[in-house]
Order: sequence, then structure tokens, then C-alpha cells
Amino acid sequence: MFSQRAVDALKEAESVVVLTGAGVSAESGVPTFRGAGGLWREYSATSLATPEAFRADPRLVWEFYNYRREVLAPLAPNPGHYAIASLEDSFARFTLITQNIDNLHRVAGTREIVELHGNIWRVRCTNLGCERYTLAWENRDVPIDPLPPRCEACESLLRPHVVWFGEMLDPEQLRRALVAVDDCDYLIVAGTSAAVQPAASMPMTASRGGAFVLEVNPEPTDISPYMSEAVQEPSGVALPRLLEAAFGG
Ligand code: OAD
Repeated sequence: MFSQRAVDALKEAESVVVLTGAGVSAESGVPTFRGAGGLWREYSATSLATPEAFRADPRLVWEFYNYRREVLAPLAPNPGHYAIASLEDSFARFTLITQNIDNLHRVAGTREIVELHGNIWRVRCTNLGCERYTLAWENRDVPIDPLPPRCEACESLLRPHVVWFGEMLDPEQLRRALVAVDDCDYLIVAGTSAAVQPAASMPMTASRGGAFVLEVNPEPTDISPYMSEAVQEPSGVALPRLLEAAFGG
């Protein structure tokens, strides 16, 4: 459970950042990568979510992402996603930075989102100069035949608009995240093992800037000792409670 100090600091905050990882979607049924119950060990992402795998067999990588989209499509946001969406309405300056590609924050209603690792429901043309560079599937109508799909404008291969292992983040998304972290006076970091950079450094950067940093994770992480407060509860429980305590739900 969080302290009254954590609640009061949130009520007085003027600029809030929420940083999320796979754990925030765990209560929606989305498997995490690491931690208790994580699928990292059996997870085939390390072999398929790479530029090399796509170059070698784009069809197989497309089949892998189509499978992940099929698994994700029926899943819904959980109370933790909705609490974050409600929190946004309480602050003039609010940014959600997520490492998740499952789109559940957007479905829950959050508007100001930085998708550090992309979005599994978006694709992009592999031709950097193509004017139809990034496409989104709002209607979930994913092209499944022929695979791999090609860009209608330039015939180049389309690829998932997600960050693969060994790839750089989108500079604009990273810039937006760093600006928000520098500006914030309250940062909630929820559902991340803090194992992957640059997201893992953001809570510490906010803390050094004087922000109150609240971690929400059932398990301790490497950054837990450096947080203003670490709450070892599921985000679907802790975040609605925090919202209730600070703003009456
Ligand atoms: P991880 O799977 O590494 O960590 C998930 C964290 O969520 C763990 O620390 C769990 O303890 C915690 N957790 C589990 N259930 C939770 C719950 N109900 N509420 C709150 N926390 C819970 O996932 P990430 O930290 O997001 O990158 O992983 C970061 C990145 O590593 C991913 O974005 C992915 C992967 O490589 C790319 O694909 C580029």
C-alpha cells in the first residue's frame, strides 16, 4: 500500500509521467517477458523479433506477429490501464510513456502516449523515403494474404512498426519521452523489470530532477531502492486505489 505522502505529492503535482511495461498488461492476460510467470525463457521473440530474422524470412516474421495480434485482439484493458487514463484528466501536463506494443493504453482512453517500442497494430514501409511510411490498422483488419504484404505506393515490403532487438528507438518518440521526464514532478513507474534501456533510466532521471517517483510492481526490481516509494502490488489494484485516494476515484 502507498503512503499518504505519495498521495499528497500526487495531489500537489503539476506535471505527471507514467512509465509502463509489460506488467501493466499482465492482468489483461498478456504474458510478460521476465519476472514471475514471464515467458522470456520459452519466448521465441528473441529469434524472430530481429532485423536479421526479417531479412532472412519476412513471411515467418509476419506469421509470428499475426499470431501475436490474434492472441491480443480479444484482450481488454484492465483497471490499471483505466486508472492511468483517468489520471491524465487530472493534470494539464501528463505523458504516458509505454514500452508495451499491445495498444491497450489507447483502447483504455489515454491520449498523450509515447510508444517507445512501437505498436503491434501499426506497420511501416521498409522504404524510408516512401510517403506511406507508417500505417495503422484501426479496424484490426490485418492483411494475412499474401504474406509478406507490400506497400501499395512503392511495392516495398511492409514490416511491423515495432522496435526489434538491436534496433534504435524512434528518435521523435525518445525525444518526447525525455522532455516529459525532465519536466515532471511526479513519475509513476509500473509493470517494468527496468531491465531495458533507455526506459530503465527514466525513473532515476526524474528522481534526480526532484520528482516524486512511485514504483508499482509485485516484485522488487533493481531500481526499487532508489524510488521515493515502491509499492509491491499489482498495478490493476494499486493504481485505482491511488487515484481514489488522491481524487476520489
Ligand atoms: P518484463 O517482462 O521485463 O517485466 C515485467 C514486470 O512486470 C516484472 O518486473 C513483473 O514483476 C511485473 N509485473 C508482473 N505482473 C504485474 C502486475 N500485475 N502489475 C505490475 N507489475 C507486474 O517487461 P518489461 O519491463 O516491459 O522490449 O520489458 C521491457 C522490454 O523488454 C519490452 O518492452 C521488450 C523486452 O525486450 C522490446 O520488445 C524492444
